[in-house]
Amino acid sequence: MRKPIIAGNWKMNNTASEGAELVKALKPLVKDAKCEVVVCVPAIDIPAVKKAIHGSKIRLGAQNVHFAEKGAYTGEISANMLKEYGVQYVIIGHSERRAYFGETDETVNKRTLAALAAGLTPIVCIGESLEEREGGLTQKVLDNQIALDFQGIEDFSKIVIAYEPIWAIGTGRTATDEQANETIGYIRKRMKKVYAGKNVGRMRIQYGGSMNAKNCKGLMAQPEIDGGLIGGASLKTADFAAIVNFDK
Ligand code: 13P
Repeated sequence: MRKPIIAGNWKMNNTASEGAELVKALKPLVKDAKCEVVVCVPAIDIPAVKKAIHGSKIRLGAQNVHFAEKGAYTGEISANMLKEYGVQYVIIGHSERRAYFGETDETVNKRTLAALAAGLTPIVCIGESLEEREGGLTQKVLDNQIALDFQGIEDFSKIVIAYEPIWAIGTGRTATDEQANETIGYIRKRMKKVYAGKNVGRMRIQYGGSMNAKNCKGLMAQPEIDGGLIGGASLKTADFAAIVNFDK
C-alpha cells in the first residue's frame, strides 16, 4: 500500500518566526496523523522550523534545489546544504518556477536526479494549463513531462509526483474528484509503461490545486490519489490540520 502524504507548500510566505509559530500550533493538531506530514518552507525558514517541529511527526521540506553539488551559482541552494539541515523532501518543477523562473523539463530532471543522489525525496510537479486542458492536450502535455522530467531514475518508490493542474492553483477552482482521479490514474498508467520495472507501482502521486479543508475528503477518497500538495490552505493551521486528518 502507498502511504498518503500531505505536504504544505508555503511558497513565499511566513518569515522564520512566523513559520515557527505556525508549526508549533500545528504540532498537537497532527499528532495522531496516519499520513506523512510535510511542510515545504522558504529556505531561510528551515533552521527555525526544524527546531520548532522537533519531537513531532512533521517533516521538513524545501521548495527547490540546484542540480550542481557546489559552485558559482549565485542565489542557489544545493541538495547537501538542505540535507545537512535535516530537510527530507524538496519540491521540484512547480509551475510557478516553470512560469516565472525559466525552469524547463531539462532542469527539472537534473534537479530531481541531484535530490535523489543526496537522499532527498523529490516532489516533482507536473500538470497542464487551462488552455491545454480545454484544447484536449492534457495527456499530450503529461506524456511530454513524463518522458523528460524523469529520465535516469531507477527507483520510483523514492519520488513523489504532484499532479497540479495549473488552472486549479490559487484559483479556488479545484479539479473535481473524478477529474483528479482520472488524470492521476492516467499518469500512473503511462509511467508504468515508460518506466517499466522501476518500481512505479510504489510511487505516490498527490493532487495539488485549491485543495482545502472542505474538499480534501472527497479527493482523498479517490483510489488513485495518494495525497495533496497544499498551497493557500497550508498557511492556516486549522485548515492544514483538517486536511492532514482527512481520514478522521
Ligand atoms: P493552492 O492550494 O493555493 O491552490 O496551491 C497549490 C499549489 O501550488 C501547491 O504547490
